[in-house]
Amino acid sequence: MDYLEIKGGDKLSGEIRVSGAKNAALPILAATILAKNPARITNLPNVADIKTFLKLLNLLGGESQFDAENHTAIVDTRDLKFTTATYEIVKTMRASILALGPLLARFGECRVSLPGGCAIGQRPVDLHLKALEKMGAEIVISEGYIYAKAPTGGLKGATIVFDKITVTGSENIIMAAALARGETRIINAAKEPEVEQICEILKAAGVKIKGAGESEIVVQGTAGELVDFAAIDVISDRIETGTYLCAAAIANSPLTLTCAAPRHLTAVTDKLAEMGFGFDFTRDSISIKPAAEIRAANVVTSEYPGFPTDMQAQLMALATQANGASVIEERLFENRFMHVSELTRMGAKIALRGNTATVTGGGLIGADVMATDLRASSALVLAALAARGTSRVHRIYHLDRGYENLETKLRSIGAKIERKKEK
Ligand code: UD1
Repeated sequence: MDYLEIKGGDKLSGEIRVSGAKNAALPILAATILAKNPARITNLPNVADIKTFLKLLNLLGGESQFDAENHTAIVDTRDLKFTTATYEIVKTMRASILALGPLLARFGECRVSLPGGCAIGQRPVDLHLKALEKMGAEIVISEGYIYAKAPTGGLKGATIVFDKITVTGSENIIMAAALARGETRIINAAKEPEVEQICEILKAAGVKIKGAGESEIVVQGTAGELVDFAAIDVISDRIETGTYLCAAAIANSPLTLTCAAPRHLTAVTDKLAEMGFGFDFTRDSISIKPAAEIRAANVVTSEYPGFPTDMQAQLMALATQANGASVIEERLFENRFMHVSELTRMGAKIALRGNTATVTGGGLIGADVMATDLRASSALVLAALAARGTSRVHRIYHLDRGYENLETKLRSIGAKIERKKEK
């Protein structure tokens, strides 16, 4: 197992190129199940979760070539013949649930291992299942698997009102609806840019969709006919961008992020501006400038376009460097504060009460800390950049799931960070 060793306290400067968004690429890979032609995907991030999804497609009988260096893949699902996403795959990546909608829509039945809870909460998939039932599917849960069967003639369009906004739930139903019979109306859909992109891709493939990026989406299904994918370019990773903005901010240093999508990050850049940082934007770059004083700020996570839960841990790391107390409220997941105890080991002053953390700024001291989930891991790396002395962040396989070359990118802007092997 690898760990990261980080010597903190240095100023950073330079430029980082942002990778493609993992959370956009995963539903895109799932959507290739609906394709009648091999799909060409560019700007695919070279991270573990993407390789896991490609492996899943291969296990289902697909073929893919991933030129990781050039971030390009050709995914051919024409000969797909198996319809089971096994426990072995799903346990390593919850997002495998994204195969459920497309497999069911194409084959009329499938079996997907039920994802368990995870480090950040229970994370049920009941809303995905209820929506598919509304489209006529019969769902049985047995021996840890979801067995789904479409009615004769395939899934049928329906009006679906999500009780809660769900990102992968919306994506699953959009993909299922693309091949269903008739019209599906999704109300209270997620508005995340990743959901919008899956709509745009299906539109370009010939599916009639209204409301991409809005809370009400209407999909006219093709009644089982597979779709013809145009070339796909994955959008820029807004969470990776936000993480590096926080890296610059925690070191109170300037940094430019290229291949970014500033319009997807308004909630984050506004919050950093409130804390005292300056910004220059172009259409596809963001430059952050140091603050005269890092001010405390309060944050409440919410669905897009609100402040992303996937940036909560990184913002908390930054709040340890602010003057005064910041109140951070997590509204999406019930247990997304696993990083608090690790940050506390580095000397952070954090009082936790239910889903609210109050962070009082002060110095951090290097320590051995343990990564618990993907975004919590990056927060520990950020904290280590600001800490006095050396930190070691263990269990970084969480980081490798979603950050491409994190240590190389940070080293290129002056951070002292090295990947080492546990003895
Ligand atoms: C996606 C992102 C993840 C991000 C999250 C919230 C991917 C691959 N992952 O996860 O990085 O943190 O959105 O922005 O895109 N819920 C239910 N029942 C369901 C589905 C969800 O109760 O059937 C609840 C969840 O437990 C959670 C909330 O709804 O409290 C939002 O979760 P959801 O948007 O579904 O998260 P994911 O799509 O799993």
